[in-house]
Amino acid sequence: MSVGRGIWNRGREEDDAMRIVMTGATAGFGLDAAERLVEAGRALVVGARNPRALPPSLAGRVDARALDLDRFASVREFAASLEGERPIDALVLNAGLQLSRPETGAESFERTFAVNHLAHFLLLDLVQPLLAPSGRVVLTGSGTHDPEEGTPVTPPVHANAEWLAFPDRDPTAERSVRKAAFRAYSSSKLANIMTAREAARRYPHLSVMSYDPGYVPWTGLGRANGRVLSALASMVVPLLIKKDRSSTIPRSGAFLAALACDDRYAACRGEYFSVRGTELKKLDPSVLARDDEACRALWDDSARLLGMGRTGIGRGE
Ligand SMILES: NC(=O)c1ccc[n+]([C@@H]2O[C@H](COP(=O)([O-])OP(=O)(O)OC[C@H]3O[C@@H](n4cnc5c(N)ncnc54)[C@H](OP(=O)(O)O)[C@@H]3O)[C@@H](O)[C@H]2O)c1
Repeated sequence: MSVGRGIWNRGREEDDAMRIVMTGATAGFGLDAAERLVEAGRALVVGARNPRALPPSLAGRVDARALDLDRFASVREFAASLEGERPIDALVLNAGLQLSRPETGAESFERTFAVNHLAHFLLLDLVQPLLAPSGRVVLTGSGTHDPEEGTPVTPPVHANAEWLAFPDRDPTAERSVRKAAFRAYSSSKLANIMTAREAARRYPHLSVMSYDPGYVPWTGLGRANGRVLSALASMVVPLLIKKDRSSTIPRSGAFLAALACDDRYAACRGEYFSVRGTELKKLDPSVLARDDEACRALWDDSARLLGMGRTGIGRGE
């Protein structure tokens, strides 16, 4: 369903504006990035769980369409709504969730992995043919994907798609519920970064990159822990982590907007960009994220979990 076509005040100038499709634009630093993109005159299509209840700063200024990443039928409907329209210049895959305990999602896979990785993987596959010839793709990952970062979030130990989708099959599974939820999150973010690297190899005509926004307090990410704990984390975590790893909503939003449309990121081939202090740096991701064979296996196994064919994945063949 698209409500955007009805409520979006679309003007003639939007026909020429850079066209950006974005998930995770309704809250956190993604909302800040979306506001900046709109202010800069970009034509934004926003995939939102509730497109009729957009934040006031976006209402009437973006083309909002229904998208619930927990349901793959919704991902397919959203992608189908983009067909037959003018080419997309950038696809920004920023939505994400963090749970307080691993859960089974609507598609019977572990929910964190399904929403953060599998749904975006499917969306990327479906939207990729609709991108402009030199279009770009930005996937939001996280520094928590790298054990060497030493973040408070339990790091990944593998990128085995089947084990991440079905933790009860994973012989390395964490026993502590809290650590298992943290690891599900960091592993899903590792999958985002590995997907960016593999997408760059499979779609050499596109500019593809992944993004680590640093630790960004006061977003909605910790909402599964409740308001009090989430607020406490926003106050305490910046004191516990390395100073240059803590960011702010405006800073991480500004860098995400830049990755989506600045010319200097027009020729990326799977690079990983990370917020360090007030700068956005191109860095090597973790050892596992740099393992080309593991990236390839994650891609193929994700396609298999989604019931996609070997070629033209996402077409349900
Ligand atoms: N905050 C941090 O410290 C941090 C650090 C590293 C990486 N990240 C990553 O940055 C991204 C944005 O996080 P944030 O901190 O800004 O969190 P946030 O405020 O909770 O924003 C998350 C966004 O994802 C959307 N979303 C969640 N589940 C969805 C679903 N099932 N279908 C469609 N959209 C869904 C939310 O939509 P609703 O408005 O409908 O909830 C919201 O727009 C995430 O990918 C996160 O993993 C965050």
